[in-house]
Amino acid sequence: MLAKKKPFTSAIVGALVALSIIALVLSLVRVEDVTLPPTVKYGMVFDAGSSHTSLFVYEWDSDKENDTGVVSQTLSCDVQGQGISSYASNPPEAGNSLRECLDKALQVVPAEKQRDVPAYLGATAGMRLLREQNSSAAEQVLAEVAKTMQEYPVAFKGARILTGEEEGAYGWITINYLLDSFTKYSPRAHAWLRPEAANIFGALDLGGASTQISFMPEGSAMSQNEASEFTLYGYSYNIYTHSYLCYGVLQALSNLALGACRDGENVKRGIHHPCYPKGYNETVSLSSFHASPCTEGSHPRLPLGDSSVTLEGRGNASGCLAALRKLFNFSACGQSQDCTFDGVYQPPLRGQFIAFSAFYYNFKFLNLTEGQPLAVVREAIEGLCTRSWEDVQNPKRLPKYCANANYILTLLLDAYKFNETSWNNIFFQMKVGSSDVGWTLGYMLNLTNMVPAEAPARVKGHRPSLWAAAVIFIILTLVLGLAALLLLLWV
Ligand SMILES: *[C@@H]1O[C@H](CO)[C@@H](O)[C@H](O)[C@H]1NC(C)=O
Ligand SMILES: *[C@@H]1O[C@H](CO)[C@@H](O)[C@H](O)[C@H]1NC(C)=O
Ligand SMILES: *[C@@H]1O[C@H](CO)[C@@H](O)[C@H](O)[C@H]1NC(C)=O
Ligand SMILES: *[C@@H]1O[C@H](CO)[C@@H](O)[C@H](O)[C@H]1NC(C)=O
Ligand SMILES: *[C@@H]1O[C@H](CO)[C@@H](O)[C@H](O)[C@H]1NC(C)=O
Repeated sequence: MLAKKKPFTSAIVGALVALSIIALVLSLVRVEDVTLPPTVKYGMVFDAGSSHTSLFVYEWDSDKENDTGVVSQTLSCDVQGQGISSYASNPPEAGNSLRECLDKALQVVPAEKQRDVPAYLGATAGMRLLREQNSSAAEQVLAEVAKTMQEYPVAFKGARILTGEEEGAYGWITINYLLDSFTKYSPRAHAWLRPEAANIFGALDLGGASTQISFMPEGSAMSQNEASEFTLYGYSYNIYTHSYLCYGVLQALSNLALGACRDGENVKRGIHHPCYPKGYNETVSLSSFHASPCTEGSHPRLPLGDSSVTLEGRGNASGCLAALRKLFNFSACGQSQDCTFDGVYQPPLRGQFIAFSAFYYNFKFLNLTEGQPLAVVREAIEGLCTRSWEDVQNPKRLPKYCANANYILTLLLDAYKFNETSWNNIFFQMKVGSSDVGWTLGYMLNLTNMVPAEAPARVKGHRPSLWAAAVIFIILTLVLGLAALLLLLWV
């Protein structure tokens, strides 16, 4: 009996000891894995807008790169001077304008990591317009900015013009990435949950030359043009996104001034401008209107020469709104409810929106970003418009805020169809944490494959329980091994 029992017990002991050793080794390996310092990675993106260029440098831990919300903004740098499209007649200067910010960026990225930093430049509506006017000039400007970026010790990945739809979609991705709305883990169900549509934010972007609206509509009945489908973290999203070229705030105001000239009796005399404050005059050269494809041909009978006109502020709030509405062709929509203007399709609005860039900057200046109801906002803007210029100057205020604010109201209410109620779903916001809201982050995330199509593999919050299981397993094995050893010695 003894002779039979001994090999059996020693086999058990052997197996258990072997198991404990394996468990120990495994746990040591894991410990080593966890205690390794994460590597910080960097990336940079130039946002070459119509009126100015900004550089954003981002950083993140390499071991978390597929999670959401892990990328943070290290640096933002405003390039001195105008947007790159303004260098059409002197493209090398477009490249040179970027140097100061590139130098700053290299100061925040450790020297040994610079060669691995993916560097992008994306140009938006200003360059789309230049390309329409003179495609070879646009190509030259892009070639020059690329040349400059390649002189720096970073991994240059391209300089290109984004489509309006890309611009809208990447802004949408940025917002929802930063707000962590794509990945929601349920600790109780031990599963990743499909993000609720209600938690996905829409994006409202207003630049100098274009404006974008992007959101997740009900259902997916959309025309091809405006529909984008993305698969992010295991779920697919049908996004409506539309970009309106020439409806950025600077372009719109330029068209407004042109409209005032067309309606004016005599261009040589002063032209009344309903949105400028009373007592404020601005002299503009008529040829400047010719410089943009947004105004070209739309007012053919205007006697435009090289002459200039004086715009005389009238401080007329309702006249300003009426003039701004004329910039949109609402009648092209007929009776359709799913239409903004110029016959552009838009499904019914849904959910909450972040309104950023010029939406934010203008409203911030007017202290209207605190979630005030629409009636309060309207009243504030009306009050601002009727102030005379002397009054407005003190405290120093710029003459264009009445026009800008009313343009924003017209765009949001008349075009995009927000109303008294849905107005409260708009958040005027430029930052989430320390990161600016805009298309650049979403663009970099997508191009570096940091917003994977698959659900996250490493489950957040699962670690502690895995650890507990491992520890319990090791202790159990050791106890059993010890018991077996004692048993062996005893028999
Ligand atoms: C992130 O996802 C990509 C593709 O899904 C994968 O190749 C990579 O290993 C992942 N990185 C980490 C740190 O999990
Ligand atoms: C387009 O731009 C190029 C380069 O700046 C210039 O040489 C050319 O004259 C321009 N063409 C037109 C039609 O303006
Ligand atoms: C508005 O659009 C309609 C339909 O496309 C067109 O017939 C009309 O001329 C446009 N109105 C203006 C003022 O451009
Ligand atoms: C906004 O608020 C600040 C501080 O409360 C104030 O100084 C400023 O004048 C306000 N601006 C406007 C446009 O009311
Ligand atoms: C992201 O990049 C991939 C190619 O890597 C492309 O197919 C996809 O359409 C991009 N996503 C968006 C939102 O543009």
